[in-house]
Amino acid sequence: MSDDQKRVFSGIQPSGEAHLGNYLGAIRNWVELVDEYDCIYCIVDLHAITGDFEPDEMPRQVFDLAVSLLAAGLDPERCTLFVQSDVPEHAELMWILNSVTPLGDLTRMTQFKDKSARQESVGAGLLNYPVLQAADILLYRGELVPVGEDQLQHLELTREIARRWNHRFGEVFPEPEPLIGGGARILGLEGVSKMSKSRGNTIRLLAEPEEIRDRLSAAVTDPARVRLSDPGNPNVCNVFALHGHFSDGETREEVEVRCQTADIGCVACKERLAENMGEQLRPIRERAKELKANPDRVYQILEAGAERCREIASETLEEAYELMGLRRRHVPDAVRADADGAGSGS
Ligand code: TYM
Repeated sequence: MSDDQKRVFSGIQPSGEAHLGNYLGAIRNWVELVDEYDCIYCIVDLHAITGDFEPDEMPRQVFDLAVSLLAAGLDPERCTLFVQSDVPEHAELMWILNSVTPLGDLTRMTQFKDKSARQESVGAGLLNYPVLQAADILLYRGELVPVGEDQLQHLELTREIARRWNHRFGEVFPEPEPLIGGGARILGLEGVSKMSKSRGNTIRLLAEPEEIRDRLSAAVTDPARVRLSDPGNPNVCNVFALHGHFSDGETREEVEVRCQTADIGCVACKERLAENMGEQLRPIRERAKELKANPDRVYQILEAGAERCREIASETLEEAYELMGLRRRHVPDAVRADADGAGSGS
């Protein structure tokens, strides 16, 4: 990590295990970026408490996610991985950024509207969620943010918040740019909405071949293909889209042609996909098993990451406080002048 490297920042919630949407939309890109940039990746547990969660399960979820990320290829020697709540400055900067964030910007966020519509009682945390996300990125002066398409609106808001804060108090925060990779929007197994933990339409990144096969067997294909003898349309088939990420060119071409001529059925097509998916993800599963057998090592990595991040974060926060006239460590000039005046008058 050298000084002239641009900084990459991204985060993922520990609200259930990492799934293929996370992997194809974000994690895979995170791994690729570590050679070129100074990459900081965060398990955002403070974000996860804005939804349903069990305190007893949280430590396990954080651990399992750390394992998945490391197993997916994040090398702790070449990037920084840490847990958000280990660096209290995230919550502090969020409060500061609240002061330049219009309420209307938060209520119009698609994710807020979507999630709040599905809840009986909506907590303020859900509304302020994107401000915490902005704080995550800006605390490290992140310049590039690798995410899936669903995070673009939050990123745009982060840029807006940075602009407003800089305009009001001074140039501290760069405006971060999103980095969107090849799997920007992976659909869930029903083929309609995005693959998402809260919709239960996922395949776990660490799923064993048996589980992959089982999950895929329920996946929706071309809805117009009712009988085996009906020709299918791969362009509207989510299973074919997944082939695009896990099967080689030759297999994809073959499946495409044979589907259109009703020469291969959906069951066989899924079987081919399950095999390739299981095989491609095998090294990740194997590394995860090794890491799970060595939990101390995982916690050491997270602690080392948090240590580095606390240092960067406290520096940024100090600068922000200073420019806002907060946390003065010296007697301010005006107070000193008054005191001197009072002293000379007596
Ligand atoms: P989260 O935990 O929902 O998802 C983590 C990453 O996975 C991507 N992703 C997807 N990509 C393609 N298709 C899908 N079906 C899919 N599902 C998830 C997400 O786009 C994301 O990149 N708000 C963020 C976490 C966050 C964050 C940050 C991200 C907190 N602070 C700072 C970037 C920078 C979130 O909920 O991610």
